[in-house]
Amino acid sequence: MSVCKGIYHVLIYAKTEHKVALRMVLIPILNLNMEKRIVIVTGGAGYIGSHTVVALHESGYRPVIIDDFSNSKPEVLDGIAKITGVKPQLFSLDCRSKNDLLEALQSCTADGEVAGVIHFAAYKAVGESTEKPLDYFENNIGSTVSLLAAMSESGVSNLVFSSSCTVYGQPDQIPVDESAPILPAESPYGYTKQACERLIMDAFKSSMPLSACLLRYFNPIGAHQSANIGELPIGHPNNLIPYLTQAVAGLRNPLTVFGNDYPTEDGTCIRDYIHVMDLARAHVASIAWLESNSPSCEAFNLGTGTGKSVSEVIAAFEKTNGIEVPYAFGPRRSGDVVAIFANAEKAHRELGWNCEFNLEEALRDAWKWQLQLAQA
Ligand code: NAD
Ligand code: WQD
Repeated sequence: MSVCKGIYHVLIYAKTEHKVALRMVLIPILNLNMEKRIVIVTGGAGYIGSHTVVALHESGYRPVIIDDFSNSKPEVLDGIAKITGVKPQLFSLDCRSKNDLLEALQSCTADGEVAGVIHFAAYKAVGESTEKPLDYFENNIGSTVSLLAAMSESGVSNLVFSSSCTVYGQPDQIPVDESAPILPAESPYGYTKQACERLIMDAFKSSMPLSACLLRYFNPIGAHQSANIGELPIGHPNNLIPYLTQAVAGLRNPLTVFGNDYPTEDGTCIRDYIHVMDLARAHVASIAWLESNSPSCEAFNLGTGTGKSVSEVIAAFEKTNGIEVPYAFGPRRSGDVVAIFANAEKAHRELGWNCEFNLEEALRDAWKWQLQLAQA
């Protein structure tokens, strides 16, 4: 392992309490002595992408964003710059265009060493995907096909892919691990995640030089502690936390809790809510893992390992932020699984990654972000 890689690994795997001190010492050494390695982040202006860009910067990489702003705003890059002091390089393009992607990738390889690509760019609204399945197939699968082709042509071989726990449907056993069967998809969105995983695995088995991490996220929530970046749901939020924070802020009707007659302790559904900065750091660890474990193609669950019910989330939000959540119980939402949470042992073991934040801290940061949005 080179000195440069060794320093990156120390930064990534160091214990939280040692990280700040180590960063202060080691990052200036990296900046002085060597070129930062580039990580290309498709969808880097989006919710999880923007937090990952910050985490990459903090770990000594040079993130380069590719985004078409179909579900984000260019101002997100200013938010990133407020945190890191650097406005990331941007290629404003649609990932469905292989030629545009190839140009961007070739420009990056001409500029420095590319450690890999993190592919976030996709449409993600489950409900919308049932209305517009063609758009979802075209964008989510089409972009991944174009990206794989552009990577192959430009000689970039490490890929981190945004997958989802939705690939498991309602698993027989929880916590669910990566060996659980992939069940028939409930929605066109879910199908695109399964199809892209399959596509990447097939490309890996072919003669194409490729290594990949398929990251199966559970429920990312919260925002960067600075509240300079966070989730920007455009229109009516479908996910629990953005709806809840907007309802508390008085921007929406009271939250409807979708069903309280499920076979769980308090009757509401159980999920694994993970702080978005913990999720972001897992991407940095995945890039580092690919750099030392190629060729490989592995799936990793990214969750806290703890399930919380909707009622527990509401109670935790009220206690942490000292503010009441307006809500009422309503009917079940079609397609909801009853309970799912992660067995993330494989990610702990292989990637050397662990969560640093708990549910209360994630809900504190989600509310801080909502308050900041109101002032903006
Ligand atoms: P997001 O919508 O905030 O970010 C996606 C970004 O990709 C946006 O900035 C959008 O403008 C961009 N984009 C979309 N299509 C593009 C294209 N063709 N070309 C260029 N840019 C394009 O979503 P997110 O919550 O950050 O999710 C990121 C990824 O993680 C997605 O693949 C999503 O399916 C996956 N995921 C998200 C969740 C979640 O709960 N947020 C859970 C599991 C998996
Ligand atoms: C969480 C819980 C709802 C809103 C979705 C996608 C999945 C993945 C993550 C991308 C559930 C309840 C919600 C509301 C509520 N995304 N709820 N009232 O359902 O786990 O998964 O996001 O891959 O594919 O399906 O997340 O945030 O929508 O819901 O009671 O207004 O909150 O019923 O129990 P979910 P969610």
